[in-house]
Order: sequence, then structure tokens, then C-alpha cells
Amino acid sequence: MDNQLFDFGMVGLGVMGRNLLLNVADHGFKAIGFDMDPQKTADLEKTASPGTVVKGVNSLEEMVKSLSTPRRIMMLVPAGKPVDDVIEKLLPLVEPGDIIIDGGNTYYTDTLRRYQYLQPKGLHFIGIGVSGGEEGARRGPSMMPGGDLTAWDHLKPVLQSIAAKVNEEACVDYMGKGAAGHFVKMVHNGIEYAIMQMICEAYDILHRGAGLTNEELHLLFTDWNNAELRSYLVEITADIFRQKDELTDAHLVDMILDKAGAKGTGKWTSQIAMDMGVAIPTIDMAVTMRNLSALKSQRMEADALKSSHAKTIADKDSLIQHTRQALFAGIIMSYVQGLAMLHTASKDLEMDIPIQNAVKVWRGGCIIRSTLLETFYEAYQRNPQIPNLLLDEKLSCLVKANIDGLRNVVAQAALNGYPAGCLMNALTYYDAYTTGRLPLNLLQAQRDYFGAHTYERTDREGKFHTQWG
Ligand code: 6PG
Repeated sequence: MDNQLFDFGMVGLGVMGRNLLLNVADHGFKAIGFDMDPQKTADLEKTASPGTVVKGVNSLEEMVKSLSTPRRIMMLVPAGKPVDDVIEKLLPLVEPGDIIIDGGNTYYTDTLRRYQYLQPKGLHFIGIGVSGGEEGARRGPSMMPGGDLTAWDHLKPVLQSIAAKVNEEACVDYMGKGAAGHFVKMVHNGIEYAIMQMICEAYDILHRGAGLTNEELHLLFTDWNNAELRSYLVEITADIFRQKDELTDAHLVDMILDKAGAKGTGKWTSQIAMDMGVAIPTIDMAVTMRNLSALKSQRMEADALKSSHAKTIADKDSLIQHTRQALFAGIIMSYVQGLAMLHTASKDLEMDIPIQNAVKVWRGGCIIRSTLLETFYEAYQRNPQIPNLLLDEKLSCLVKANIDGLRNVVAQAALNGYPAGCLMNALTYYDAYTTGRLPLNLLQAQRDYFGAHTYERTDREGKFHTQWG
């Protein structure tokens, strides 16, 4: 193996880096990985498939020297400063024309900054969103590259062969200019937050509300996963309900503390949407619910002070039916909001995102993959510039057919004391977006009353101010 050149290099051999590199090697590319930890380079070589060419080294210089040019070097290190540190270490070793890839969950403006820093040096820097977790990285992730087109051209053969496939199409494509790849991945994660939270809300109302056992929930989610709700997140939820605890006789889900972690991509989605003036309330609420979950001891204290507790919901069968519809309509609303955000970002942040590409690559390999994506893909093929999927006739019919279930579950949750913020916000978003006249005429009057902020009229052009009272 000593004198041969390698096709693809990886910096960072944590689980994601190692698995992605092994996947590259499985597709016939000679793969080399660098990590300072000798255990990680040894693990890389040990876990390689027989017949593949895989080498692990503990010297970055050795890795760079061993690559054919233009070099293809991917970094899978924690987002933030570690990425800048690796870039600085690579700079004396690489040559103009080489390609440096950041495959982490990087904040999009960091990607832009690095692109602008490396471009004058003749280096092709590209941000790629990678989704699918450990298993996806190993067997076929969904990937969202954006920015440098030369880099994309050089990487296409590798990325297309390692990506998940749907209808024989690779789940990787160009996401647009600048930091579009990382931006699209961030919005993917925002949608992921919303769907996960809505599944939790459905679980709460069915389990605490109607008394469904873990076994029953396992069967129900398995059943749902065989029809319109078919998706990775519903599938793993069904599995989770079946898992027994190794330390006690209980089901594992019952032993897990109700305090959610977060690495920040959901929060970024909400923050940036606020800055852009885009409404994504279901994603916002998913972030908020994680924040509330962190207040475990305060919640326990407040729970003890409460006089009335959540009530049992008697009609189990109709609750199950309504929850199925609620989840379906709510999940649609999460995608609708995320995709509408991409539409605005595409223009306002000058990224020219081909949104049908995002939807296409999300159909397989990623955490938010679901059969619904096929429906969205068709809608974007009918109209690639549609600002909001609720304006698509077919999709609007699909929501209409399920919205009463969502109304019912939201009402049950409110009346009986179950926090179901994401489902509630999904319904509010739908009702607001599909209401031709909102009551904000009154708000404009209030603004003009106390601050002379002016208002527009329904019957003539211009700005108006009134001396009120
Ligand atoms: C993916 C996931 C992945 C990661 C999230 C978790 O697409 O493979 O989104 O990127 O699991 O970042 O995010 P939180 O820790 O914030 O839940």
C-alpha cells in the first residue's frame, strides 16, 4: 500500500468521519484518514471491509502527501474553532486547486467567511450538510453541498456513489451558492426538531392521556409507519417503545430523564428565521419545549403546586384516529414552514437554492426522510418557485383532509391539560396562513394611535395617519 496515492482524505475519525470514509472505500475509492488519536486510526483500519483500500495515519502531513491531486480532503470535526484550526494546519500542506470540505453542522456565515478566506489562495472550499447519523454515514447519507461549483464537479463521483439512493437517484445534489449547503442542512435540522417534538406530544396524549402502554404504542407506530406517516422518525419511535431496559425490568423509554439536549442547529434556524422575518412557529416551539424540558426541578416544584392535574381522555379509539391525522397534518406544516424559509433565504441571502433539489435529497438517507417528501418533490416539479406549499392545490387538499384531526387533538390537549405546543402552533400557522383577513388591521390602528406609525388602507394606495380619540 506504501507508494500508492489515495483518492479521498478525511480529517477527524470520530464515528461520523470513520463511517463516511469506510463508505467511500466500499465504493472503490482509496481512502485515507487522519486523527491524532492512534486508537481511532487503528479502529478505522480494523473496521474496513475486506478488499477495500483504507489507511489511517497520525500525521496530517503524511495524509496530505498521500493524496492524488487535486486533493479531496473532508473535515468531520466539531463545528466552530476546530474547523478553523484544521484549516490553518492544512494551509502549509495543500496546493492551489485542492478541495477542502467541511461536512459538519457549521453555522452558515462561518462557511461564507472560510470560503472568502480560502478562495484567494486558490483553494476550493465547500460546505456540505451531511445527514443520517452514524448508520447513514456508513451505508448511505443524504448530502447537501453548496457553494464552489468546481469543488462540486470534482466531488460528484464520490458523493453520488456513497449517498443513499431513492428510485436509483443519489440523495446528493447542489444546494446553491455560498453557504447554501450548510443553510439547507440547518433548516433540515429545524424541521427535524419540530417533527420529533410533535411525535412526543402525540405520545404524551396517547400514553398519559388515554393510557396506551408501550407495547400498544409500539404496535400503533408500527402500523402508522406502514401508511401515510411512513418515515424514519416514526419508524425509530416504534422501535424505541419496544426496547427493554438492561438495568431494570422496565421499558427503557420510561427510565430516561425528560430533559432534552440540543447542539444548537434548531435554535439557529429560529434565530435566522426571526432575522429574515419568516414565520416558522412550529420549529420555534420545538426549540422552546427543549428549553422548558431543561427546567426539570422547577417543573417538579410547580407540578406539586398545581391544583388540577391532566385529565384522562375517555374515547381512546377516536383519540388514536385523530392523533394519526394530527401528526400527519402537523408534520406537513413543519416541512411547509422550513421550505418557505428556504424560499425566502434563497432570494434574501442570494443563495439561489433549487428547493426541489433539497426536497429530492431529503427523500432518502436523512433523519427527516418520509414518503411525504415524494409528494413535495412533485409539487416543486409542478412549480419550482412556489413560495409556500400550502399554495399547491394537491397538498392543500391533503392538509384539508386531516386538519379536523389536528383541531380535535389540539382541543383535547388544551381542555385536558397536556402541553402540545408544536401541534397547536402547526394549527395556528395553518389557520393564519389560510385566512384572507387577519385581525391585524386593529394592530395597525393601535400602532398609529400611540406612535403615529401610519397604516395602509384597503380601498386606496398610500400611508395614512389619524388623530385618534
Ligand atoms: C442528522 C442530524 C445530526 C444530529 C443533530 C442533533 O441530520 O444526521 O440532524 O446532524 O443528530 O445535530 O441535533 P441536536 O443535538 O441539536 O438534537
